[in-house]
Amino acid sequence: TKLGCGEGGCGACTVMISKYDPFRKKILHHTANACLFPICALHHVAVTTVEGIGNTKSRLHPAQERIAKSHGSQCGFCTPGIVMSMYTLLRNNPEPHMEDIEDAFQGNIHSPAGVQPGRTVFCKSCNVLMLFRMAEVCLFPLQNGGCCGGKTMTSSSLFNSSEFQPLDPTQEPIFPPELMTQSNKQQKQMCFKGERVMWIQPTTLSELVALKSQYPNAKLVVGNTEVGKRKMIIAPAWIPEMNAVQHTETGVTIGAACTLKSVEEVMRKAVSDLPPYKTEIFQAVLEQLRWFAGPQIRNVAAIGGNIMTASPISDLNPVLMASGSKLTLVSKEGRRTVTMDEKFFTGYRKTIVKPEEILLSVEIPYSKKGEYFSAFKQASRREDDIAIVTCGMRVLFKDGTSQVEEIKLSYGGMAPTTILALKTCKELTGRGWNDKLLQDACRLLSGEMDLSPSAPGGMVDFRRTLTLSFFFKFYLTVLQKLSKSGTASQLGIYLLSYLSVSNPFSSASRVDQPCVLLQEVPKGQAVEDMVGRPLVHVSASKQASGEAVYCDDIPHYENELYLTLVTSTKAHAKILSVDTSEAQSVPGFVCFVSAKDVPGSNVTGIANDETVFAKDVVTCVGHIIGAVLADTQEHSRRAAKAVKIKYEELKPIVTIQEAIEKQSFFKDIKRINKGDVKKGFEESDHILEGEMYLGGQEHFYLETHCTLAVPKGEDGEMELFVSTQNPMKTQEFAANALGVPSNRVVVRVKRMGGGFGGKETRSTILTSVVAVAAFKTGRAVRCMLDRDEDMLISGGRHPFLGRYKVGFMKNGRVKSLEVSYYSNGGNSVDLSHGVTLLHLDNSYNIPNVSSVGIVCKTNLPSNTAFRGFGGPQGMMIAECWMSDLARKCGLPPEEVRKLNLYHEGDTTHFNQKLEGFTLRRCWDECLSSSSYHARKKLIEEFNKQNRWKKRGMSIIPTKFGISFTVPFLNQAGALVHVYTDGSVLLTHGGTEMGQGLHTKMIQVASRALGVPTSKIYISETSTNTVPNTSPTAASVSADINGMAVYNACQTILKRLEPIKQSNPKGSWEDWIKTAYESCVSLSATGIPDVGYNFEKNEGKPFSYFSYGVACSEVEIDCLTGDHKNIRTDIVMDVGTSLNPAIDIGQIEGAFVQGIGLFTMEELRYSPEGNLYTRGPGMYKIPAFGDIPTEFYVSLLRDCPNSKAVYSSKAVGEPPLFLSASVFYAIKDAIYSARKDSGLTEAFRLDSPATPERIRNACVDIFTKMCPSAEPGTFKPWCVRV
Ligand SMILES: Cc1cc2nc3c(=O)[nH]c(=O)nc-3n(C[C@H](O)[C@H](O)[C@H](O)COP(=O)(O)OP(=O)(O)OC[C@H]3O[C@@H](n4cnc5c(N)ncnc54)[C@H](O)[C@@H]3O)c2cc1C
Ligand code: FES
Repeated sequence: TKLGCGEGGCGACTVMISKYDPFRKKILHHTANACLFPICALHHVAVTTVEGIGNTKSRLHPAQERIAKSHGSQCGFCTPGIVMSMYTLLRNNPEPHMEDIEDAFQGNIHSPAGVQPGRTVFCKSCNVLMLFRMAEVCLFPLQNGGCCGGKTMTSSSLFNSSEFQPLDPTQEPIFPPELMTQSNKQQKQMCFKGERVMWIQPTTLSELVALKSQYPNAKLVVGNTEVGKRKMIIAPAWIPEMNAVQHTETGVTIGAACTLKSVEEVMRKAVSDLPPYKTEIFQAVLEQLRWFAGPQIRNVAAIGGNIMTASPISDLNPVLMASGSKLTLVSKEGRRTVTMDEKFFTGYRKTIVKPEEILLSVEIPYSKKGEYFSAFKQASRREDDIAIVTCGMRVLFKDGTSQVEEIKLSYGGMAPTTILALKTCKELTGRGWNDKLLQDACRLLSGEMDLSPSAPGGMVDFRRTLTLSFFFKFYLTVLQKLSKSGTASQLGIYLLSYLSVSNPFSSASRVDQPCVLLQEVPKGQAVEDMVGRPLVHVSASKQASGEAVYCDDIPHYENELYLTLVTSTKAHAKILSVDTSEAQSVPGFVCFVSAKDVPGSNVTGIANDETVFAKDVVTCVGHIIGAVLADTQEHSRRAAKAVKIKYEELKPIVTIQEAIEKQSFFKDIKRINKGDVKKGFEESDHILEGEMYLGGQEHFYLETHCTLAVPKGEDGEMELFVSTQNPMKTQEFAANALGVPSNRVVVRVKRMGGGFGGKETRSTILTSVVAVAAFKTGRAVRCMLDRDEDMLISGGRHPFLGRYKVGFMKNGRVKSLEVSYYSNGGNSVDLSHGVTLLHLDNSYNIPNVSSVGIVCKTNLPSNTAFRGFGGPQGMMIAECWMSDLARKCGLPPEEVRKLNLYHEGDTTHFNQKLEGFTLRRCWDECLSSSSYHARKKLIEEFNKQNRWKKRGMSIIPTKFGISFTVPFLNQAGALVHVYTDGSVLLTHGGTEMGQGLHTKMIQVASRALGVPTSKIYISETSTNTVPNTSPTAASVSADINGMAVYNACQTILKRLEPIKQSNPKGSWEDWIKTAYESCVSLSATGIPDVGYNFEKNEGKPFSYFSYGVACSEVEIDCLTGDHKNIRTDIVMDVGTSLNPAIDIGQIEGAFVQGIGLFTMEELRYSPEGNLYTRGPGMYKIPAFGDIPTEFYVSLLRDCPNSKAVYSSKAVGEPPLFLSASVFYAIKDAIYSARKDSGLTEAFRLDSPATPERIRNACVDIFTKMCPSAEPGTFKPWCVRV
């Protein structure tokens, strides 16, 4: 079981909870997040973790086997959680439908290392459970009997499902019988007493009432999904009355401790049993529950908890309030019933319920004839996300008329509490349900649902507009129902195109259909030669069974200490004092470590502009000032919180805009100029100027930064177990801080649960601190950052501002480009200068270029490498002006793009000649495989027929340069040991972070040595086996380490040659045995040929380029800004793939990570530089439902690459940018929406295209009723950094 967030937001910790229900006489299984589950609530309960269902030593469970063998696990940190969601589903339902599977995965987010969970779904087929990729056959139009004219064989299969063991439900572990016996017995009140918390579990209502009267401040905990500080907990889960469900004359009464899952079951049954007019409210509850958290939360969270938490963005409270649901409260004084109305919530998270009172039950009423009810919610992500605005809306008409008798509109997200739009409702009462009412309602609501422009949560215009959009949806929904019932004849005046307003997105659900296409290995390739074959990731089975060891899984050392960081709460300030006196009194406290404890140099960082510990000044929130060491994690956390720091605040620079105003830039401004820009503009027919902003991105590797430092006790030796992509810099920086030579420090990396560039340099900031602490205490020290700390301190992808001026001809041909790129580097240089101008052309030939790349120095945590390394930002801005100039020319964007694409032999703006330019092939194949032109017509038709839902499509190319642009980094090392039994221990300079590097290296060594892959093993990456390794980054690791492995193997083979010749019929083992006397133990390096000079614009920054094209289609909801990714087709050139399964996984993973970057993930900072988004609760990465419903990936055939090992190409980063096709498809759809509002000009859309940006761009009557406040007249809650 893994810990990914600790707040119920990622599902990595999913376990199965089983309990016996004595009332239903049934064993119930459900998933839960272990990170939130109170240990005391496990009494009488069985817990099954991923380790409990199977393992590689005996037998994997079919669920584990399938996810491993079908390439569903790459970094593997999320895999145990996904396995447990699947396992639990199968325990309850061995024959699930696709919808059941999709629902089961709602609460599991996956690390986009290339993980393909969306593709690896389970289905029931012919009595065996099998896992299938949703596409297994060739998509391409078959010409001459083959996809490529029969020249090469293609395959669509990445695994052999006949190998899978069938699921046998009778073989599952049994529920412990003693728990059943105990559950059947009369329960007794339980009390658990901990160091600081007391937990009492009463069994009767009277016990509960007595306890609450005795301890009025005690918290009642059921699901514990609203974690908070609690000293005294009363758990009512065993009390029958609080779990009871009763149908009364007026509605359904549900016990307050009933879980949301059980509420859902009750509502579903009622909806199927009762006449529809009675269940309008129940259907609204179901609609809200559908998008309420994930199953792990719904399985444990109670309806009473949702009400009593009194969250202003609760999903159920607006429904309960608009429906006038009744709450029964009980205390020693007796019972009382209150209605959920405007008086119930008295303030932020406050209600009229008295401290000694308990919410016993809630009665949700039946609806009446002539009564209609709807609920709506808009969140940043459709699945498993809290609402931005949510609402419940009810109207009751006078008998047989369309005259409003009663109306209630309740909103969440518009005030510190759930509120009723009382004034609006009053005005609408008695009115006819017609257009005039709609207009008046919107006018009234826009006044009543007002928000201060500084309101917490931000998105003020969007939230205001949503209140009107929701009402409009409600209005039309009711109108349709009235019309159906014959009460209103009004519908006629509404165009049919309006009626899809309340429909869900009209896309099909995932179906069993083709999705991958790859080239098979040539005929005659030896069976044991695995190069080019879809070899399963070598750790996949261990990852699926939970056996794979990550840094924090290393067993504890004796006397080990835990470290918690103490970081700055100010973005820019002088440190006046640090007071640790209170921390020292926390039990288990050992010491505080700070700058004065650094035995070597406190100066660190790639550009020597950082400190191990801040000394006098802090330059960002999250700046490390010190660290607390204690005997346990819990104690060190508590002690760290007790450290008091006094600051004198200095003015921070937070945004790019502020940095430009103050000219706060890092030195070394990069420029690339080509041709004559001035002349180019003079010759152009049109000139376009504009600006685009791209937000940053959090790496969100599922495994956070982690280090375990073990001092060896002699001569300053230290062993560091680290989750890092960069063993060399980790070693160098730690040695520097310790004041010892590098030869005393060994860094060891087994595997990482994702990296994405975030562990290329930023891991060193933690490791150096942990090393200093271990040095000071002489004891092993461990620290794994909590998710919030990790997000706060470790930086991410650089936010970018691009300013451009582009000159072009009437036919769309680009003549001249002037661009300035500003990136927000944060408080240190780190790798920011590498994030520059080399990808500003994307794939287009621009004859005249003048460009400048400036890194802004701000008071944010240092931004750093991130998959694509500035390439996606640079290319995105190119696509921005490209799509705008196509509009300006009135030409289809795909034509203008194709016109400007490079040709073979062209030179780029950095004067590198393009050789082996396969992009045009990718383009044509993608255009044809996606049926682009035919679908475009269908989209036009759809858009004509739908006013409030629009579809859009775009096709986007990418050209991605492969190499470190710092030439000497393009080196690697490998060490091959062959043992006397013939087994091979392989070590190389690259680290495994899920991308399958070790698997590919084993394939390379296997072919080079001519031995089966099963004989080769990689244990870890370590600085004492392969020294001076380049970071595993820039997509080149398979290239450079592959060459090193190849060279090392060749050296061994050369030495074996005479032995082989003298015994040609001998086996590998025979030769090795004979060679033993020769002592074979070798290492070798491979260095490709690159090097570029910015000043002279000369040389070759890249060894070669990877190419790809994607076509995406989306549908947007113009009223809410929501969107659905309908279909994506990708054609990618990965050379001759070393391992198509891993490469396709990388393409899919990079694409989905790009979807996050360009449409979803938004880091939000206060104007003072304080990061709000510190966990999955507020920061949303793509979930399973965001993967395009149809997702087709094909690898370009017949494109060997002479520049890398076995003709392969790099794949980690290049496909990420292809997700820009989703962004521009969204923009295309918005164009269509704006056209309906009479707007045809180009418009600005910054990235990410969140629901807020989409909605605000779909200008219409509703947005116009919610105008923005004048900038500068207020202080916003958050700023664009
Ligand atoms: C990852 C995640 C996602 C979430 N997503 C959503 C979402 O989409 N929509 C949404 O609305 N909420 C969401 N929530 C919030 C939360 O899940 C709900 O509010 C949930 O219903 C709370 O129930 P619980 O049983 O866990 O409450 P607990 O945490 O057990 O208790 C919450 C509070 O209610 C009080 N309380 C509980 N029962 C009673 C009672 N009978 N009488 C008096 N006081 C009582 C407790 O004292 C405590 O203060 C999410 C939470 C998490 C962690
Ligand atoms: S660690 Fe429990 S949900 Fe993320």
